[in-house]
Amino acid sequence: MIDRIEAIEQQASSAVEAAQTSDALEQVRVQYLGRKADLPNILRGVAELPPEQRGAVGKRANQARKQLEAAIERRGAALEAAELERRLASDAIDVTLPGDPPQPVGRLHVLTQTRREIEDVFLGLGFSVLEGPEVESVRYNFDALNHSPTHPARGRSDTFYVADDVVLRTHTSPMQIRAMEAQPPPLYVIIPGRVYRRDSDATHTPQFHQVEGLAVDRGITLADLKGTLLDFSRAIFGADREVRLRPHFFPFTEPSVEVDVSCFNCARDGSPCQVCKGSGWLEILGAGMVDPNVLGHVREHGYDPEEVQGFAFGMGIERIAALKYGIPDIRTLYQNDVRVLEQFG
Ligand code: DAH
Repeated sequence: MIDRIEAIEQQASSAVEAAQTSDALEQVRVQYLGRKADLPNILRGVAELPPEQRGAVGKRANQARKQLEAAIERRGAALEAAELERRLASDAIDVTLPGDPPQPVGRLHVLTQTRREIEDVFLGLGFSVLEGPEVESVRYNFDALNHSPTHPARGRSDTFYVADDVVLRTHTSPMQIRAMEAQPPPLYVIIPGRVYRRDSDATHTPQFHQVEGLAVDRGITLADLKGTLLDFSRAIFGADREVRLRPHFFPFTEPSVEVDVSCFNCARDGSPCQVCKGSGWLEILGAGMVDPNVLGHVREHGYDPEEVQGFAFGMGIERIAALKYGIPDIRTLYQNDVRVLEQFG
């Protein structure tokens, strides 16, 4: 009988050590200490044993039961500790780690930023913003703007023709006519938009952007144009800028001028300036007083050249951005390389 108890004891203790979960250990407990298990049976049967065996068997069986209970308890505690450890490791959140790094955010394209900046300046001066068609008739793009029949811009080597009398607009100036047809004077508008020319190099792309300006009212003079462009130049290029007007020719303005802004770069340090090539001036746009012939095309809409006068200007957004940010090749603005684009704004 003692041998049997020892065999049970050995089996039970290996089963306890082999249990890998609390559930498995509970099964071992039921198997060896449960109501139908051998060891408790032996203990219950001690009274029926011959008297000379009772003491030794009872003592040994009791001892085996106590040891098994203790072993189960120990194993249970160890399994629980291991399970807790595992759970802590898998749930671990280290609150001492730095927070997530900020996610990179997008930004507006530098041309969009520049367009909005320009719009803001003129909105502040009381101008409204208009838009117009990119596919334009020859009549609006050239004829009504007083272009001679032989003007070189009419050529197919300069301009994209959609049909004989339809072009991709080569400038935003046709919107001068459309704006005047749409509303009587006084008129103060700017028109940003895409324009198209057969041209491609570091400072020209076949599609680019302009902002047209037009003011028509009684008594408008060249001084109004200069004051407006001075305000604009100071807002975009810095508060101590000056502007100068140089005589030029455009078919739809008389007189016509090219407008320069004083260089914002050489003002900064004394060294020879790369931006203005030492001239001290940067050409920013074309402008002039609206030619009476142009007003004549919209006379029936309230624009009598004897009654009202106007100034107009047109600038390239790419050019303004390239000057302002020192962009050497504007084609890079259209290549969608974020390493270029994220440098602005
Ligand atoms: N349309 C001209 C161009 O594309 C720019 C321009 C010059 C616009 C003089 C004007 C202006 O309104 O008055 O080169």
